[in-house]
Amino acid sequence: MGIAVFASGNGSNFQSLIDCSNKENWEVPISLLICDRPNAKAIERAQAAKVPYRCINPHDFADKVRYEQEIVNTLEEYQIKWIVLAGYMRIIGETILNPFIGKIVNIHPSLLPAFPGKHAIEEAFTYPVKITGVTIHFIDEGIDTGPIIAQEAVSVDPDDTLASLEDKIHRVEHRLYPKIVRSWVEGKL
Ligand code: GAR
Repeated sequence: MGIAVFASGNGSNFQSLIDCSNKENWEVPISLLICDRPNAKAIERAQAAKVPYRCINPHDFADKVRYEQEIVNTLEEYQIKWIVLAGYMRIIGETILNPFIGKIVNIHPSLLPAFPGKHAIEEAFTYPVKITGVTIHFIDEGIDTGPIIAQEAVSVDPDDTLASLEDKIHRVEHRLYPKIVRSWVEGKL
């Protein structure tokens, strides 16, 4: 009974989860990476960390239901109980959601409900807000909606650039997400 991480790109949050689980000897293993993009850096990270991975490309399937059914089959094969979205840039459909209700969490780089979607950091920076942050929440059928588990604020300082703000947010993500995921899967939330 393990954890699957879903990622689409760089995978720095996946890396921080792997690093913490190894360092802290988590009770529940990270047993699988699911990635929807063949060239994602997350795959290299899985290879380097010797975490099993499956690249499942939606373009290889006739529709979203069949794409997600292949994911569900893979999750069953690896006996996955918990799903951790870490920069997975697709909306989870009901094919995955129904069998994993309450078992999927996501991290988002803003204080939701502000700035949902794919460009949250840039939108907060250009708005401009003075405080943004990180949200960890359960997944439901919406985009970056679902009950909030944890939030941490990050200030946008006058001398911040978009790059420095991204860096500050990612540092919070890499600290907060492993902590919350561990508590969750160990039943201590
Ligand atoms: C993270 O900042 C995560 O919060 C964000 O994508 C980034 C992935 O980075 N997720 C979303 O915007 C979800 N709407 P990573 O691939 O380096 O972990």
